[in-house]
Amino acid sequence: MPEFIATAIAHPNIAFIKYWGNLDDRLRLPQNSSLSMNLAGLETRTTVQFDPGLERDSLTINAQPASGDALQRASVFLDHLRQLAGKPLYARIESISNFPSGAGIASSAAAYAALALAGSRALGLELSERQVTILARRGSGSAARSIPGGYVEWHAATRDEDCFAESIAPPEHWELTDCIAVIQTEHKPVGSTQGHALATSSPLQAARVADAPRRLEVCRSALLNRDFAALAEIVELDSNLMHAVMMTSQPSLFYWAPQSLAIMKAVASWRRENIQACYSLDAGPNVHVICTAGYARQVRERLEAMPGVLSVLSAPPGGPARIV
Ligand code: DP6
Repeated sequence: MPEFIATAIAHPNIAFIKYWGNLDDRLRLPQNSSLSMNLAGLETRTTVQFDPGLERDSLTINAQPASGDALQRASVFLDHLRQLAGKPLYARIESISNFPSGAGIASSAAAYAALALAGSRALGLELSERQVTILARRGSGSAARSIPGGYVEWHAATRDEDCFAESIAPPEHWELTDCIAVIQTEHKPVGSTQGHALATSSPLQAARVADAPRRLEVCRSALLNRDFAALAEIVELDSNLMHAVMMTSQPSLFYWAPQSLAIMKAVASWRRENIQACYSLDAGPNVHVICTAGYARQVRERLEAMPGVLSVLSAPPGGPARIV
């Protein structure tokens, strides 16, 4: 009998140009294209085993059995995979991450990238990298960006098959470091999936989306030219725009905490001292401080000295998701 089992590892990613709001929530077709860096050192390792003897799917996250929404979401994703492969088998999923989940460190990105890669391999599907990004996207939008390596662009499109992610530069293109100031590790009260559904209720979302192609272009060329000043300006603008949409949606979503704002202001002032660093926040209070490698140690020490910072994780650019 064939062995329907595989293990994959994927990194989370930090978006420089953010994904917020879908054209189609079920298919996770985003309203705008986005651009990110994979985070080396932080990873999710997932083993998927499809087994004719199982009567339902099961999921463990960091060795704890998951139920409710987390299991339901994974099962819906597996249904899509089973349909693609034509194999109606239930699966056992075991997922382990080495970083806190639910606090704006894109845990769903790494989780669904690893699940898409391991799951498709376990069922014997022969998919191209592009096809795996499309599959991962169905589980979590940002997971599409954790499949290719290094710096990755995810293209918005109105058709499922056109909405994929691809690498625009390998990790070694530019040694940026993401120093993540962790100020909370608990699960956020409103997850990204619910947040995306509220985006359009903000009167600012249409303006954010309309200007997104311009920001993406500025960000892409800053990255390809290794122009930190230009990168810093566009990364902070894009993060602020997304949070402006979040804060003005109905109901309003405030993902940042007072300590987040203190760090944002400090980082902007460090830049006036010629330290190459800028901030970006996802759907959580932790602050991602992106800096050039030469400043990483100094940035880390300064962040560790700030009130409310529990720890600082540092991540250089990471490679693609891979089968192990
Ligand atoms: C704020 O990809 O987590 O991190 O598709 O519902 O899983 P789902 O949402 P998710 O949204 C990420 C939102 C963000 C910005 C970004 O990473 O682009």
